[in-house]
Amino acid sequence: MPAERTTDSITVPPLFTPTPLVERDALGIWHVRGYAEAKQLMLADAAQAGFQAEDVQKARIDPVLYQQGEPHRVQRGQIARFFSPTTTHQKHMPVMEQFADSIIGEFAKAGRGDLNQMAMRMAVAVASAIVGLNATPGMVKRLNAMLHTPTRTGHPLQDRWAELWGRGQMLTFLLFDVRPAIRARRREPQDDVISYMVSKGKGEMAILAECVVYGAAGMVTTQEFISVVFWHCMLHPELRELMLTADQETRYEFLNEALRLEPVIARLSRRALSDITVTSDGQTVTIPAGDRIDFHLYEINADARTVADAPRALHPHRDLGAGVPRAVMGFGSGMHKCAGEFVAIAETDVFLRRLLALDGLRIEQEPTLNRNELIEGYELRNFIIAAG
Ligand code: HEM
Repeated sequence: MPAERTTDSITVPPLFTPTPLVERDALGIWHVRGYAEAKQLMLADAAQAGFQAEDVQKARIDPVLYQQGEPHRVQRGQIARFFSPTTTHQKHMPVMEQFADSIIGEFAKAGRGDLNQMAMRMAVAVASAIVGLNATPGMVKRLNAMLHTPTRTGHPLQDRWAELWGRGQMLTFLLFDVRPAIRARRREPQDDVISYMVSKGKGEMAILAECVVYGAAGMVTTQEFISVVFWHCMLHPELRELMLTADQETRYEFLNEALRLEPVIARLSRRALSDITVTSDGQTVTIPAGDRIDFHLYEINADARTVADAPRALHPHRDLGAGVPRAVMGFGSGMHKCAGEFVAIAETDVFLRRLLALDGLRIEQEPTLNRNELIEGYELRNFIIAAG
């Protein structure tokens, strides 16, 4: 340290250039890795470009996840009542408790089971009750097969087979599940999404597409989330203890923090509809109309400017800035922000509190970890657990 200072501050250039938080790659795709930037862009004039949006738009169907502007705002406003915290706690909670008791009761009796399958049954049952489908064991199987269609390999014959398989699964889902539900609701409307769509005069294909969105956005996501939180709780006894003894607010905070660190959907995408200007660390970047924008949630959710204290660590009681959601962008942001976030947190809580309370609970076989390329998400398969 020099005896006399000649300047009050010294500029130290970084050894490595930090990765820009908004950058364009050689293919012309923009990559966003900062929370403040992502939040601005999620409110900008851009259309859904994830979840095979271009294929869905070609088919001229527009489930809520792919809608834009006024029609989207109207539909979100009208379906909000199915998902609010009040509806979740007053209407859906007893249904969740009943399903969880039945699935975990069967597991406790058998002494052994595949957690991923149990979580799938729970997630399908809860989302089906909200949508208006009848979650029979057959439907769980059909949805499982449809939503986990073989991935494309680039081999023409195999890919053609995968496409036909996907269409076949969709057709059986329509014939055995969606069509009977529509007929039943035409005769006797209920307080659910299908009844709402029937009341708006929507056709069978539009309702099928909406059901597939709820299957993918609501069922598969929650299935994986339940499994990953369980795994953390078994690896860290203090988290299991928290789930069993803490009050609801603390448990929900922990579950959101777990989703922040383990986003089930790790990449969201949009396409700019007009030139979009975004500010990043005092610099202005313009994204031209027509360009694709990918949001990388692992990085956005651990942005040290938003999540200041050890952003990669799990802090069940973390302090975040005003207005920053606890899961940061784990449930998305802006107009397409997850409709079912309260449902997802509540059902994970209901299910895991019952499961984690069982005596002699243990993992018999750690899950195989697969990657879902479409959403850069994780899939935990063959997660064998035992109790008693
Ligand atoms: C842990 C579980 C869940 C996660 C991680 C999750 C995550 C997300 C994310 C990130 C989006 C935004 C997609 C985008 O911006 O492109 C989204 C949208 C959506 N989610 Fe969820 N979700 C979960 C559970 C649920 C559940 C249980 C339901 C319903 C029962 C649901 C229904 C929806 C719907 C309808 C949308 C589309 C909203 C719109 O486009 O306006 N989600 N979800």
